[in-house]
Amino acid sequence: MNEQRGVKILGWGQALPERVLTNQDLERMVETSDEWIVSRTGIRERRIAAAETAASDLAVVAAREALQRAEVAPAQIDLIIVATVTPDMAFPATACLVQSALAAGRAAAFDLEAGCSGFLYALATAREFIAGGTYDHVLVVGVDLLSKITDWQDRNTCVLFGDGAGAVVLGPAAPGQGILSTYLGCDGAGGELLCLPAGGSRQPLTPENLAAGRQYIHMNGPEVFKFAVRIMGEAAVKALERAGLELQDVTYLVPHQANLRIIDAAARRLKLPPERVLVNLDRYGNMSSASIPVALAEAADAGRFHPGDILVLVGFGAGLTWGAAAVRW
Ligand code: ACO
Repeated sequence: MNEQRGVKILGWGQALPERVLTNQDLERMVETSDEWIVSRTGIRERRIAAAETAASDLAVVAAREALQRAEVAPAQIDLIIVATVTPDMAFPATACLVQSALAAGRAAAFDLEAGCSGFLYALATAREFIAGGTYDHVLVVGVDLLSKITDWQDRNTCVLFGDGAGAVVLGPAAPGQGILSTYLGCDGAGGELLCLPAGGSRQPLTPENLAAGRQYIHMNGPEVFKFAVRIMGEAAVKALERAGLELQDVTYLVPHQANLRIIDAAARRLKLPPERVLVNLDRYGNMSSASIPVALAEAADAGRFHPGDILVLVGFGAGLTWGAAAVRW
């Protein structure tokens, strides 16, 4: 069997809506307080997309930035994968809309849905296509506009989420460079802990379902919290093991941004001090599939990564799902 090719991140980009919604704004909308939100989650403000903005709009902005940075033309993209739980519509796939907007005529395109783990599932999928030699350039976008599926009267959920998009362009590299390992998992028995019940074939958008608010995110926060605290550390360690790396090899942890307490628990498990952990949830909240690629793009733009740095990307989400990747920058 031929040796598999290495796969690396050639470019990165992000897109965030302009409108900022602060905890003080939320105090005027539901019975909550800045103190509660900051102490329980670490979130101070989040970005909210305009009424006319959809997932593909943000995805295209992030994708263009990533392509430019990678010096890859749209015509060179072989495949587009968009990870999202908030597609423009049920079909066609948002990836197809992105393909058209970018004029990436050669690219195959599909959406992938793994809750907040979506970006890591997409990264792992894209890596296989390139490592095996099927494709050379794959665009991976994580985009979510959770504000569109949030019940703005439910304080249990509405303080947590924000909108955004992050993208990376992947291409071939020497073996041992770039994405060193990936690790994905799922516990479907926990699906009801975090779901959007209506709008699919089980509970179509009938007037009854709409009246009952089943078109919004439903979440058992404490149960998801317990799961997340356990799985983030476990998944990160698994990805490191698969890459033949030790805890002390890690330069930066790039975690899904759901709750600072969950991130802190993962950092403790990996024995990492705060300066080695990327955090942006204070400014953006939980952007689901976009959280990890936006954190990655921000740190890369700020020049925080140096060649040879080891990054561990790790996330969890609806499904329940989880994923991690070890990356040599
Ligand atoms: N403001 C004030 N009080 C609130 C708020 C709020 N915004 N939200 C809930 N509360 C109240 C509840 O009503 C409850 O009150 P009660 O005890 O009188 O019933 C109490 O606060 C709950 O407090 P805790 O149990 O201490 O809350 P906890 O520490 O569990 O924090 C949180 C709640 C932040 C939701 C936490 O459980 C969490 O982060 N869970 C994980 C969420 C997550 O990661 N989701 C991923 C979503 S990703 C996706 O795929 C969409």
